[in-house]
Amino acid sequence: APVFLLNGPNLGRLGLREPAVYGSTTLAGLEAQCTEVAAQLGLELTCRQTDTEGQMIGWVHEAADLGAGVLLNPAGWTHTSVALRDACAQLTAPLVEVHLTNVHAREPFRAHSYISPVAAAVVAGMGPEGYLAALRYLAGRLNPS
Ligand code: DQA
Repeated sequence: APVFLLNGPNLGRLGLREPAVYGSTTLAGLEAQCTEVAAQLGLELTCRQTDTEGQMIGWVHEAADLGAGVLLNPAGWTHTSVALRDACAQLTAPLVEVHLTNVHAREPFRAHSYISPVAAAVVAGMGPEGYLAALRYLAGRLNPS
């Protein structure tokens, strides 16, 4: 089954970006781990990252048209974007919202998500392991056997 791994703004700088908060794994390293686990799970994974909101919305539309599952870290747009939520609401396959950090243990503005109400599941605070857990969940939903 097709799954899109979509990482939002500033996540291209993982490994460099506030390593005390976000850890030392790079985006390339994270995508490599996800690609390996996805293959074991029988998922066809497409990995993308952008700092541009319209680009991300276009990719969510593409996932909707394909009926693909989506693993989304909306990053800063989590807390700001009605437009990204409206795109996510059009998905028919499950969406998992993933955050590396526990957004509920940080600044109060990070506790609210525009995306969570249209997500099947939300993972926060597990670091890169959360992405792998989300893939296992999506495999269970998309490849029932
Ligand atoms: C994040 C949490 C967001 O609050 C923040 O804006 C990010 C990353 C996370 O993965 O922990 O950029 O989504």
